[in-house]
Amino acid sequence: MGELPAAVRAGGHSGVNTPRLLQIAHDDPAAIRAELLAGLAAPTATISPKYLYDALGSRLFSAITELPEYYPTRTEAAIFATELPHMAEVLGPVATLVDLGAGNCEKAARLFSAFRVQRYVAVDISASYLRESLEFLQQKHPALDMLGIGLDFSQHLTLPAEVGDGPRTLFYPGSSIGNFTPNEALAFLRQARAECRGGALLIGVDLVKPADILEAAYDDPLGVTAAFNRNMLLHLNRLAGTDFRIAEWRHVAFLNATESRIEMHLEALRESVVQWSGGKRRFAAGERMHTENSCKWRVEDFATLLERAGFSRLRHWTDARAWFAVFAAFS
Ligand SMILES: C[S@@+](CC[C@H](N)C(=O)[O-])C[C@H]1O[C@@H](n2cnc3c(N)ncnc32)[C@H](O)[C@@H]1O
Repeated sequence: MGELPAAVRAGGHSGVNTPRLLQIAHDDPAAIRAELLAGLAAPTATISPKYLYDALGSRLFSAITELPEYYPTRTEAAIFATELPHMAEVLGPVATLVDLGAGNCEKAARLFSAFRVQRYVAVDISASYLRESLEFLQQKHPALDMLGIGLDFSQHLTLPAEVGDGPRTLFYPGSSIGNFTPNEALAFLRQARAECRGGALLIGVDLVKPADILEAAYDDPLGVTAAFNRNMLLHLNRLAGTDFRIAEWRHVAFLNATESRIEMHLEALRESVVQWSGGKRRFAAGERMHTENSCKWRVEDFATLLERAGFSRLRHWTDARAWFAVFAAFS
């Protein structure tokens, strides 16, 4: 992964700190194109969920969090609202809060005061959306030191030196850890532990629950999640030069109970041929492309996973229905 040398100053506003934005490439277009085309050519076409998040995808995800069916965001928020003082007691003052997959940065912003955060580092693959979110946040917290990092951490979680020395609290909310298979999650958590530098991890995890609740959360009647999933095709057309026509694809989401995960797919409505410079792929009517896994955990299994990754002194908090858990763990 190459690194662009310059720390780019985000656009300024008089009288307010401006958050710095570092872009760590994720910008080798040839490598991205090769990855995408290999995924398209696989027997079951598979594209990483990280490609759901272009600027529009990030906005659509933000809209999803407001849907009545999408319980994770508000359930996690309710846990924080109730347990914040206890979490602050467990973690102590947080010098550096690193928000992994920060999105609109709203969840982290609710922690600043209780955790006495001195430095906020927001990391996200969707760099232009991150810049907008951080600029907005800096207006509300003009004195807080903020750094944005445009980074794809799906393969390696290596934070740049600009994050600074000393222990860090890594914040990974929204059950994004569920996008990894259990083995991938273990590898990610080991890297996260190293990046804590003696600090802690605060992580949100979606829990096992009945299929109807899960499936409604990932296939809402308004069609926002469908738009989020289908928008990936427009992103692919830009990144890989494919000619997907979104009208020919429908959103599918279902519980794979064996793997304890919601799977999202895009299904071809009719036979279609997708072409790109130098290649093509034929999809039969009904054939699917796998776009996201969202693994659901049991509290005890996730605790074991954290311990296997080397974390200790685990604490966790859940909501009254035990639908979601927030874990604190020390590195
Ligand atoms: C499910 S959203 C969660 C957003 C926010 N943290 C929340 O909990 O509401 C996942 C976020 O992670 C970012 N993301 C996804 N894959 C990523 C990757 N490989 N590297 C960095 N950020 C990623 C997305 O752009 C998006 O903002």
